[in-house]
Amino acid sequence: MPFSVDISSLDRWVTQVRSRWGSVLCIRPLRPDDREREIAFINSLSERSRYFRLFTPLKFLPRHLIDQLMDVDYRERMAFVATTQLGDIEQFVGVARYGETDQAGIAELGVSVADAWQRCGIGSLLIQQLIRYAREQGIHHLTGQVLPANQAMIALARRLGFTVSYEPAQHLFEISRELDVPQSTQIAAQEGVLSGASSVANGAYPP
Ligand SMILES: CC(C)(COP(=O)(O)OP(=O)(O)OC[C@H]1O[C@@H](n2cnc3c(N)ncnc32)[C@H](O)[C@@H]1OP(=O)(O)O)[C@@H](O)C(=O)NCCC(=O)NCCS
Repeated sequence: MPFSVDISSLDRWVTQVRSRWGSVLCIRPLRPDDREREIAFINSLSERSRYFRLFTPLKFLPRHLIDQLMDVDYRERMAFVATTQLGDIEQFVGVARYGETDQAGIAELGVSVADAWQRCGIGSLLIQQLIRYAREQGIHHLTGQVLPANQAMIALARRLGFTVSYEPAQHLFEISRELDVPQSTQIAAQEGVLSGASSVANGAYPP
């Protein structure tokens, strides 16, 4: 059942980070009261970004899709959001999520960052946070599918240590990363400083 976990038990996963350009953002787990923010976020994406994320040129957001996006159980299905505060209003600027596949311990990754906030390090920060969380949930492998035209995601995946391979039958790139394999010094170093984005508060990020 969605959101059956006590949200306050996830407080240690709420953290503040700084984007490459110095904006302070909050990275936190998706909450049950985020539905309207999630809808506003998806609707705010350019057609290109939405297509890259959802693989379909959506003209409107169907209810079943938003239900699916809000359906996290904090174990098999998890989402982290990056938010900014505009006065009293909290807005999503990025979302990264995983959903466990029918193979135990293997989950599929999805990520999107608002167009105006891309290339600020937010996608990297969200995925790194998601990876830390996934490991604690016993997820040992993350995979994802990427459209061939999506050079941004292919470059980001490579930078975060995913292997990237072309699947001609599907005309898609498959990205894949083991989570319990010790990271190379190089990747670990990149994760700490990637894109100039950084942590500004103690919390779960960075470890
Ligand atoms: C792919 C996406 C999530 C990247 O998020 P982001 O926050 O912009 O990425 P980051 O700023 O963390 O980028 C980290 C690194 O990834 C690579 N990268 C990111 N965007 C890139 C681009 N447009 N072109 C080339 N490399 C890119 C770079 O190596 C970058 O580091 P650098 O800026 O220091 O060179 C974002 O472009 C997006 O939301 N796209 C639309 C939705 C989508 O494609 N989702 C993925 C579906 S699987």
